[in-house]
Amino acid sequence: MQDKLALLKDKQATAQLGGGEQRIENQHKKGKLTARERIHFLLDEGSFEEIGMLVTHRSSDFGMEKQQFLGDGVITGYGTVDGRLIYVFAQDFTVFGGSLSETHAEKICKIMDLAMKTGVPVIGLNDSGGARIQEGVKSLGGYADIFYRNVMASGVVPQISAIMGPCAGGAVYSPAMTDFTVMVEHTSYMFVTGPNVVKTVTNETVTAEELGGASAHSTKSGVTHLTAANDLECILKVKQLLSYMPQNCEEKPTKLPYTPGAEIREELNSIVPENPNHPYDMRDVVNGIVDEESFLEIHPDFAENIIVGFARLGGRSIGVIGNQPFSLAGVLDVNSSRKAARFVRFCDCFNIPMLVLVDVPGFLPGTDQEWNGIIVNGAKLLYAFSEATVPRVTLITRKAYGGAYDVMNSKHIGADLNYAWPMAEIAVMGAKGASEIIFRKEIKASGDPEAMLKEKEEEYKEKFAHPYRAAQRGFIDEVIEPKDSRRKLMKAFAMLENKVAHIPKKKHGNIPL
Ligand code: HXC
Repeated sequence: MQDKLALLKDKQATAQLGGGEQRIENQHKKGKLTARERIHFLLDEGSFEEIGMLVTHRSSDFGMEKQQFLGDGVITGYGTVDGRLIYVFAQDFTVFGGSLSETHAEKICKIMDLAMKTGVPVIGLNDSGGARIQEGVKSLGGYADIFYRNVMASGVVPQISAIMGPCAGGAVYSPAMTDFTVMVEHTSYMFVTGPNVVKTVTNETVTAEELGGASAHSTKSGVTHLTAANDLECILKVKQLLSYMPQNCEEKPTKLPYTPGAEIREELNSIVPENPNHPYDMRDVVNGIVDEESFLEIHPDFAENIIVGFARLGGRSIGVIGNQPFSLAGVLDVNSSRKAARFVRFCDCFNIPMLVLVDVPGFLPGTDQEWNGIIVNGAKLLYAFSEATVPRVTLITRKAYGGAYDVMNSKHIGADLNYAWPMAEIAVMGAKGASEIIFRKEIKASGDPEAMLKEKEEEYKEKFAHPYRAAQRGFIDEVIEPKDSRRKLMKAFAMLENKVAHIPKKKHGNIPL
């Protein structure tokens, strides 16, 4: 017995070392933590239970049988984050560059299967050279086994990917199919084909950082939702994200204790400028409404004309979607539509009520937008809102024009409560454009066309540039003073707490992808 215990201790100690002390040092020199250190910082102290520590690969090609490392380049198991159970895998770059072998993939699949059976989130800490080249199709199959589980788990349990090193080739598709991706700046990158292949095929010269670094994916492609300055910050962001989510699609997010007090927020009365063409920061509206410092913006540097993020309102976790007048006047375009649509669908998957803040002059015109599919991309957002069955509350802060009025969680597509501030303008289009079309003849015939246009604009504004026509119809439930918004919204979400809504029975819809 003593011998066996000694052997176990020996094996465990060996497994802790991954690919050896020198390689651990190399990892640190690059400014990266090791896989075990990452797990240590992610989980509550002492909560980690490792699964498959003694697994080794089964390959014998290229002398691989002589190179065996316990765990085979990935640490898998479960533990708690702030007391909540999660499954985690962390790829160990010190073992064959964290590359994915058949057994490495089996370990990840095992915890994903357990996560789905037990209704528990999965967090992946990715740091890998991709498919283990020595294993050929076995490693490709391993990736596909993971991809399949990513899809099966999608909408069942939250999946979060931290990208903490290379992530190349088809390997990027696993993180892409998870709900959120957080990338570490300067030490991580994601691309389907690296700079060398790019040079050969397109003759472009580009660095790995330029092609697929955190900056490229947070601003240009929108592949990553958040970035972090280093490994520790990345782990903290993963934990923060998780805090807004429930364990699975059958549960609601945890509501933090909150005692209602004076919920009037005077500062909200002075955010929207007098001049309707002047911008303001919708984040000020969000922060004025939600619990202090609770807003976590997602995708902050991508498609900045719409803001999305999680927040708490009276302790309740909510998703916030808002047009951003600060960028492109808050217009809806291709990228903002798909950014918001994906977020809306996440909230709906996991029972997170949505607050939609509207100040939108319409869709962005132009050949660039039309040829890049504003029709199909705008339709994504329309589809996502229409399909969502979670509590949905809208507040129109200023403009709600044209098709964008319909799309931005209007009553007509299933919103539960729709509020407007008194300065809201709800119409087919703005006063100038509308007057130029419908009063064209009068303006042309007039001795002073400019004065006539002004007069017609005023007439139009009086008729349409306010929320009262919509309120008369019941499309707006109440016109409220800005400072009273927080109180109203807290009551609205509390009232909607037990909302039950179903979409018609179907296999699945056909969202315009
Ligand atoms: C086996 C690998 C490996 C791999 C790295 N290593 N990638 N071993 N299979 N895919 C090994 C290296 O041989 C090396 O071992 C150790 O890991 C560290 O790698 P280095 O190159 O020394 O590290 P670094 O300079 O930091 O460069 C990291 C890297 C580079 C950029 C990831 O290793 C690299 O380009 N690897 C290949 C990437 C790739 O093309 N993968 C396949 C993608 S296609 P030693 O013993 O020398 O220290 C793919 C298909 C997925 O993944 C399909 C899904 C559908």
